[in-house]
Amino acid sequence: MTMLDIIENKKNKRELSTEEIRFFVDGFTNGQIPDYQASSLLMAIVLNGMTDRETFDLTDAMLNSGDVVDMSRLGGIVVDKHSTGGIGDSTTLALAPILACCGVYVAKMSGRGLGFTGGTIDKLESIPHFDTALSEEEFFQVVKRVGCAVIGQTANLAPADKKIYALRDVTGTVNAIPLICSSIMSKKLASGADTILLDVKYGSGAFMPTPESALELAEKMVAIGTLAGKRIGALITDMQQPLSDHVGNSLEIVGIIDVLNGKKNRLYYEIREVAVKLLVLTEKYNENSAEKAFQNAIDSGKALKKFAEMVEAQHGDDSYILHPEKFELGKKDTVSASRDGYVTGMIAADIGRAVTHLGGGRMQKSEEIDFSVGVVMKVAIGSKVKKGDVLCEVYHNGKGLEEAKRLIENAVEIGDIRPCEHKIAYAYVDKNGTTIY
Ligand code: URA
Repeated sequence: MTMLDIIENKKNKRELSTEEIRFFVDGFTNGQIPDYQASSLLMAIVLNGMTDRETFDLTDAMLNSGDVVDMSRLGGIVVDKHSTGGIGDSTTLALAPILACCGVYVAKMSGRGLGFTGGTIDKLESIPHFDTALSEEEFFQVVKRVGCAVIGQTANLAPADKKIYALRDVTGTVNAIPLICSSIMSKKLASGADTILLDVKYGSGAFMPTPESALELAEKMVAIGTLAGKRIGALITDMQQPLSDHVGNSLEIVGIIDVLNGKKNRLYYEIREVAVKLLVLTEKYNENSAEKAFQNAIDSGKALKKFAEMVEAQHGDDSYILHPEKFELGKKDTVSASRDGYVTGMIAADIGRAVTHLGGGRMQKSEEIDFSVGVVMKVAIGSKVKKGDVLCEVYHNGKGLEEAKRLIENAVEIGDIRPCEHKIAYAYVDKNGTTIY
């Protein structure tokens, strides 16, 4: 078997065998297959697709390229949630403590932001001294003691995905369902949870532009997770505007503390939807009892205390959680409405790009992040505005301010007709099938 034969086979739309897929993944991961051959095969996959069997084999080969975490010694249900990424998506930060209060373990490995999307690990590092690089044993001990912990992905978790993703990023081969599916699922299956909820986003701030394409990706990921023996479901959710009205690193922690204090905004309702679906998937709860447990975790103040407990266990300064006014923010500026009307739409990705220009995200992997910058949206799709009303506050330290304001002015569309309401979730998929809402 040679790599050239495998490329020719995919170029000619033939189904690759399990052995061919493993040959590619193992050979590329250990450095025997050069980048030019790997990128040629990746482009053939983008153009000609993969069958479900090929996608499963690709996931399996990538999953087995590194460590598979064993969380069974925790002796309880271990849940995980994965979002395909977006703007102001800080749901993990609230879900971890809320779910821990509901009696399940949350052992979460998260990523950093790149480009216009924010990353959970960067947001957590805006809490002074918070350690996102605990050893595997300390991670396990914090999960056991507190009920939840969030760390960065360990170096040897699906290393094949790290190499393949880096190549896809620079060869125009990110956007293909079998590649996205195997990339996400190899990491999810390697990180040890038995119950998984995928939050697959669609819209201007997401990888998948339409609900239909997000649903196709979700159905494939659920099929693979089910085949691998996991309890798994996927929500298809709206990313046509920032999920949290706070976008930026420290700011998103402040937004999460609002939710844990019971503030009912879009972020709150999405967190509730994900938490309830995840709790029902564990088979310990039904919809009714899951909703009650969620509400009780917030109303009793236990979820906020649990968040502070997790921060303290990961060596962070938990006084910031109880006193969020301690977070230092940049100087405040504003963007105002240029006319009367309704907010009819948003280019969510451009709001993410604006934060990156301010220094709150990275254009390149090695860049330092300014935690104190970001935006606070004062309007959502459907808001009625008058000329001069503040659309959003911009927190900055000088860098990129003009470009950020220009991007936001352009991103918030104002028209004459009130748009119809945007539902948080478009559909739900699990082993029993798909429900469109
Ligand atoms: N997130 C991932 O982890 N991989 C992809 O390919 C796309 C989004």
